[in-house]
Amino acid sequence: MSRVLSIDDIDLAAHALRQGAVMGIPTETVYGLAADISHENAVRRIFTLKNRPENHPLIIHIANMEQLSEYTLNVPPYVKILCQAFWPGPLTVVLQKSQKVGDYVTGGQSTVALRMPAHPIALDLIRRVGGAIAAPSANQFGRVSPTHYKHVLEAFDESIQVLDGGSCSIGIESTIVDATDPKKCVLLRPGMIDKQRIQDVLGRDIEVVADGAKKGMRVSGMLKSHYAPVKPTYLVSQTEELLALKALYDGEIYLLSFTEQWVKMLSLIQSMPKNSTDYAQNIYGALRRAEQSTAQAIVIESPPKTVSWDAIWDRILKASAHWHPANVD
Ligand code: TXA
Ligand code: MG
Repeated sequence: MSRVLSIDDIDLAAHALRQGAVMGIPTETVYGLAADISHENAVRRIFTLKNRPENHPLIIHIANMEQLSEYTLNVPPYVKILCQAFWPGPLTVVLQKSQKVGDYVTGGQSTVALRMPAHPIALDLIRRVGGAIAAPSANQFGRVSPTHYKHVLEAFDESIQVLDGGSCSIGIESTIVDATDPKKCVLLRPGMIDKQRIQDVLGRDIEVVADGAKKGMRVSGMLKSHYAPVKPTYLVSQTEELLALKALYDGEIYLLSFTEQWVKMLSLIQSMPKNSTDYAQNIYGALRRAEQSTAQAIVIESPPKTVSWDAIWDRILKASAHWHPANVD
């Protein structure tokens, strides 16, 4: 049995999911580890395979707007505006769940996170399955997310097949908003649809706030040391800091940088794109190459502090959290 399925096998893949299989699937953000939400055992297997605590809720993926009403209750009017603007695409909304979503999907919470992915293979697959697909990122809990089918093969054993959809065009996980309050849209996890774009679409009547952590929701992506590479990882903005680390690790550093001067200082380097869209597409792949290199430590050059870099800041702060004592919970 081949572990990699192609677009030509999409019917086969949909059939397997309907029968209760767990499978790697492409989305435009990152690859997901998918199961049909009507199969409790399949959904539970996702948690086991990922080593993910069972109370960390999953995102469900839908293929049309009717499914939004099928799986949720009390949808505030502004959610329709958001979905029209950003779906299919990398925006996840958290809403009250309907009875069609089992507690085993939401970690016992009364809310469900859902999105309509833009990847054509993902959309086609969900349509063929006929119902929602639960899919967290297809990595082991706490590790770097996969942006290519090969990363999924590496993370799981032979029991897991993967549908090949090429490299992910967005490259980091979706933006998550809590949309249960009709007057307020709460940003729970930043993504490439940034706070400003959401506020622009919603206008003045709806407040967009970014304090999800304070609501006490269980959002695993919000653990401060999530997305951790296996090597010491540092976020650095000053040349002196880079020089100090270079001395500490005897030059055995893998550097992710945009500064030409810095790039010349080390031999293991990855020149990073200067615009946030391309940077996001490349960051997880670069972290993987850094992990697999001979370097003893990884250094990431701090990017600009403008809003379009918010999601990237979130991911690289988490990747380096262990190495900044103040950030570890
Ligand atoms: O781009 C993405 O969102 C990818 C692709 C595969 O769609 N999926 C993804 O899933 O990143 P995962 O499981 O790695 O992250 C899902 C996040 C978690 O932080 C989880 O806690 C949060 O969504 N979440 C899920 N249901 C929630 C809920 N009811 N309330 C608050 N947060 C929720
Ligand atoms: Mg994840």
